[in-house]
Order: sequence, then structure tokens, then C-alpha cells
Amino acid sequence: MKYTKFDKSKKYDLNIIFVFEDNLASINRVVDKGPASDDIKMSISNKVITGKSGARNMLASKMYDNSYYFIGLGKKSELTIQGFEKNLKAALKEINSYKISTVSIDLTNLKIKNFDIINASIIEIEKSQYSYKGTTTSELKICALKISSALNDRQFNKTISESIAVSNGINKARMLGDTPSNICNPTFLAKEAKKLEKIHKSIKVEILDEKQMRSLKMGSLLSVSQGSKQPAKLVIIKYTPIKKKQPIVLVGKGITFDTGGISLKPSANMDEMKYDMSGAGSVIGTMQACAEMNLKNNVIGILACAENMPGSQATRPGDVVTSMSGITIEILNTDAEGRLVLCDALTFCKKYKPRYILDMATLTGACLVGLGKYPSGLFSNSSELSSKIKKSADNTGDRVWELPLYQDYFDEIKTNFADIQNIGGRYGGAITAAAFLATFTKDQKWAHLDIAGTAWEIGQDKGSTGRPVKLLTDFVMTNK
Ligand code: BES
Ligand code: MN
Ligand code: ZN
Repeated sequence: MKYTKFDKSKKYDLNIIFVFEDNLASINRVVDKGPASDDIKMSISNKVITGKSGARNMLASKMYDNSYYFIGLGKKSELTIQGFEKNLKAALKEINSYKISTVSIDLTNLKIKNFDIINASIIEIEKSQYSYKGTTTSELKICALKISSALNDRQFNKTISESIAVSNGINKARMLGDTPSNICNPTFLAKEAKKLEKIHKSIKVEILDEKQMRSLKMGSLLSVSQGSKQPAKLVIIKYTPIKKKQPIVLVGKGITFDTGGISLKPSANMDEMKYDMSGAGSVIGTMQACAEMNLKNNVIGILACAENMPGSQATRPGDVVTSMSGITIEILNTDAEGRLVLCDALTFCKKYKPRYILDMATLTGACLVGLGKYPSGLFSNSSELSSKIKKSADNTGDRVWELPLYQDYFDEIKTNFADIQNIGGRYGGAITAAAFLATFTKDQKWAHLDIAGTAWEIGQDKGSTGRPVKLLTDFVMTNK
């Protein structure tokens, strides 16, 4: 897709205009005088155009100079980025089925920061062009953005190219998530990371194999892959263009398939466990976006990749392993494997002297039960860091909700047979999982995002969402 500034001397096949239910009159400002304007006034008084969230109206006639597509956004005072995106996404699904090649989109009336609204628009448009099978029907080629005049050409072009970089990162994460586990195994993820190094000179990738992880004493991570024929990989993606600046470290859960191991999962919907590497996918997507934007910040991505299978060498419930930190772990449930790979990656990453550590993981079904599929669960030992993450969530509409880490949750993972056990009691499973991770990051500014509910969509739109790439790229852009 090519993005340009709106040019009123040009004609576009369709002109997209946002309407608010409490500010309908403002439409008149943007449509042509004459028959179009008369018909629109009538549509408003007949309540055909309502501006309600979810309402969409196409208005075209050979009597008009231009065709219009109105997208309702509800009340102006209640507008949020995610509300904007949701309505634009639904509209694009329709618009992409029309045989048109140029659209304009009017962003002038939205009172959200230029960058954030342009970013949100481009990301939704680019996302709407993605299809795992490569069978998109869209014929759209040019999108002209009408914005408030505050941006000069240079700023406009910079915003566009940054937004495209973020979109590409999101679509990369989606592609990786959607790729089935017979292809997307730990070795595949390592190769995908390695590809970044080829494309971007600013990126360096290191891959640790099981032998190297054994000599680092990563007994916890290796206990997960021991039931599978696929060897585990620890992948380090370095993007550090600034000298002597402590990096932000992003750690991703990369379980390329989660059968549960000996604590086998039920068969229903087990296919969804191909998405259990979405944390790692979001790290790859974010690293790619940083390099593509030429971002002036240091970021290191770590992918903890393994396949959780119930092979003959698999961990038995009750087995005790020693993690890289020296902390011993009694594995009571082999399906709580994400925390087992992450804890060693979290210990390992300290050697980079991180400014902040963020880990992303499809960690618990409990998070999905507790929060639903709208926000990612946020956990942190630093209120400074969690505020910054919430700020990025607000900027991007990639929402998070913070849950507490009281001492009581840590008490639940005590055991007679090791330093800690890998599951808590019956309740609050997302939090006991986070408490497990927090045990390994006590001396660091650390946050954990449980993306079990947000990394993929179910139902008709089944597929990877690419979340939280948008949140993470905003975080690294705004915390230089
Ligand atoms: N990958 C799953 C979490 C998951 C489940 C994400 C369903 C999305 C949908 C994770 O490895 C897991 O199996 N967690 C267990 C933990 C339990 C054994 C303490 C869970 O949530 O049931
Ligand atoms: Mn599991
Ligand atoms: Zn898992």
C-alpha cells in the first residue's frame, strides 16, 4: 500500500469519514455541496447515518462528485484507540471486497495525537491485507490520509514509515503464530531470527543449542524439551545501535507446541497450542520493527524455544530440576512448562545488565478466564516500569490490566522437596505463575505480560493477532 497526503485536487474511489453520534453535523464540513450534501442531510435526519459505534454507511451515486463511506465511532468524548481500530477493521473487511484501488481517509476530526491516530490507521490497513494463505482479495493500492496541518512533509513521511515498520512487525508475528508446529519448531524460530540478521546490518543473532545450554546449567529449560525429538534453542537477537546504554531486554516464551507433556492436555482445541510461541513471535516482530525504523535505542530479544511433548524421556510429575540460578524446582505439572523455560532465560539475560526486562508469554488459561480476551495480564515488581507499560497501552490501544503480586502467592509455590514448585493452588493461576517468574528477577526492574487471551483470535477470525508488538514498539520508542 502506498500512503500519501490527501490532495483535494485528486479523486479517490472512496472517501472514508468518521462520524460521532453526538457531532453528526460536522459531516457537512467534509462532503461536496450539492446532491451529496442534500442526501447526507436527509440520511442524518432519517437516522440512516447515526454515528453509533458499529454503524457503517456507504453513500455513492452517479449524481455525486465523490463516493463516501461513513464509519460511526459513538460518542466523541468516549473515543479510544481500540474503539477506533475495531470500527475501522470492520469497515476495511467490507472495503477490501470492493474492486477499488484508491481511498482517502479523513483523520482531522478525531482529537487523538497525530502520530497515534495515523499509526492506528496504517496498522489496521496493513493488518487487513494479511492472510496466512496469501489469498487477500483487496485491490487497494493508494491510501490518502487527510490530517491536521501540524505535520510537515518530513514528519509525515517519518510517521508513515514508522507505522509501516510496526505493521510489518505485527504481520511477521502473526505469520509466525499461524505457521503450524510441524514447520514452526524451535529450529525454525531460530532460523527466522537469523534471517533478520541478513536483512538488517544493525541486528546480531546468536543461537545456543542444547549442549551450550547444558554447560550454562539451564536444567529447567532443558527439562521441557527432553520429551521431544525437537531440540530446544535459546535465541539472542541484539539491536544495540547506541554505545554504552543499558538495553531493554524482551524475553519471549517460544513453546512451538504445547501438548502439556505427561500432564497431557485434553484433545479439544489442542491445535491452538501452536500459538504457544506467540511471546517469542512478538519479540521477533518487535526486533524487526526496531531495526526497520532505525530506532535510537538498545533492545535485546531473547527467545526461549522448546516443544513440550510427552516422549519417553519426558519429565515425570514430581521430578526435581535445578535452574540456571541454582534455585531447585519440583515439577508437579508438566503443563506448566512456560515458566520453566522462561526462568532460565530470565536468569541468562541479566548478563546484558538490562535497564528493564519484559517477558511475554501465553502463560496461563487462568489469565484468559480472569480477564477475557481484551487486555493482556500485567505483573511487575516495579511501579515505575508498570506505569510506563500502561502509558504505552493507552497510546496504542494494546491494552493491559495489572494484577497484584502479594507475598501470599509466593507462599503457594513452596514445597518440601525443592526450593519452589511449578504450580500454585486452585485459584489465581495467572498470578502464581507470575510469582514463580518474579522469584527469578528479584534484583531487576521486571514486568511480565500474560498474553494467553490476546495473542490469538478464535472463531471465524481465528488466527494470530500479533499482540503485543504494537505495545512493545511504543514502549521502546517512548523510553529512549
Ligand atoms: N500454554 C498454556 C496456557 C494456555 C492455555 C494459553 C490455554 C492459552 C489457552 C500453558 O502452558 C499451560 O498449559 N498452563 C496451565 C498451567 C497449569 C498447569 C498450572 C494452564 O493454564 O492450565
Ligand atoms: Mn502448558
Ligand atoms: Zn504453554
